[in-house]
Amino acid sequence: MIIGLIGFGKVSQNLVKLIQSNNIKFITSKENRSQYTIEAINRLNVETLPTFKDVADISDILISANSPFASLEVAEKYGKCSNGIYLDLNNISPETTFEIEKHVSNLVDGAIIGKIDSDNPTMYISGNDADKLLFLNDYLNVKVISDKIGDVAILKLLRSSYTKTLTAILIESYEIAKNHNLEDEFFDVISLTEGQDFKVKSMSRIKNTLNNSKRKREELTEIINSFSGQDLVMVKAALEKFNRL
Ligand SMILES: NC(=O)c1ccc[n+]([C@@H]2O[C@H](COP(=O)([O-])OP(=O)(O)OC[C@H]3O[C@@H](n4cnc5c(N)ncnc54)[C@H](OP(=O)(O)O)[C@@H]3O)[C@@H](O)[C@H]2O)c1
Repeated sequence: MIIGLIGFGKVSQNLVKLIQSNNIKFITSKENRSQYTIEAINRLNVETLPTFKDVADISDILISANSPFASLEVAEKYGKCSNGIYLDLNNISPETTFEIEKHVSNLVDGAIIGKIDSDNPTMYISGNDADKLLFLNDYLNVKVISDKIGDVAILKLLRSSYTKTLTAILIESYEIAKNHNLEDEFFDVISLTEGQDFKVKSMSRIKNTLNNSKRKREELTEIINSFSGQDLVMVKAALEKFNRL
C-alpha cells in the first residue's frame, strides 16, 4: 500500500514514525518545499517523486497535512488526481471541509487530537470511507465518529471552544487569586476535584494562551462564525477576555 503525503511537517513526520510496516510505503514530493521540509524528508528517508501530482496519482491513501490556509487549494489541485482515499488532517472549519468535499471523491474528514509528537495519538475520522482506515489502529488509536463528512470538523471546533472558554475563566480566576496572594491555595482547592495535575496543566494552558493570544482570538472568531446560529454567550465572553490580554 502507498500512502502519499502532501505536507511533511510535524503531523506527517509523526505518522511516518508511527506507521512502520513492510506493506506500507510513504511517498511525498520536494516540489516547492522549504529547506526545513526537505531536511525532514531526507532525515526520515521517505521516497520522493518530482511533483505532488505524481504522488496523488499513485497513492492508495493521500494525506493532506499542510496548513489550514493551504488545505482547500491542495484539495482543488490534487483531489481529482487521486483514486484512493483522501484524508484531510488540517485544522479546518466544517465550512472548509464541505468546500473540500466538492473537489475530492472518497474524502475522509480527520483530526489528530492530543500532543502531535505523542507515541499514541488519537485520530478521529468521519465519512463514508472512514471504515477503510481502521487498519491504522495497529499503529495509533483510530476512532470512526460517523459516516458524515463534517462531523469531525464540528468536534474539533467544539473541543477548541470548550478548552479556550475554560482557559478564559482560568486566567480570570488566577488573576484574582494573585491579587489576594492566594495562587497556590487556589490551585490546591481546585486540584481536590480536578486532579493532582491541575496546576501543571493550568499553568501550561495559561502560558500557551498568553504566548499565542492572536491565534487564539482568530480561532475563537472562527468558532463564533461557524456556530453563528447558536447561543454562544460563553464563547463570546472568552473572546472578549482574550481581546484584553
Ligand atoms: N501540530 C499539531 O499539533 C497539529 C495537530 C492536529 C492537526 N494539525 C494540522 O495539521 C496540518 C499540518 O500541521 P503540522 O504541525 O504538521 O504543520 P507544520 O509542521 O507547520 O508543517 C507543514 C508542512 O506542510 C507543508 N506545506 C505547506 N503548504 C504546502 C502546500 N501548498 N503543498 C505542499 N506542502 C505544503 C510545509 O512545507 P514548507 O516547509 O515547504 O512550507 C510543511 O512541510 C495543519 O493544518 C495543522 O493545523 C496540527
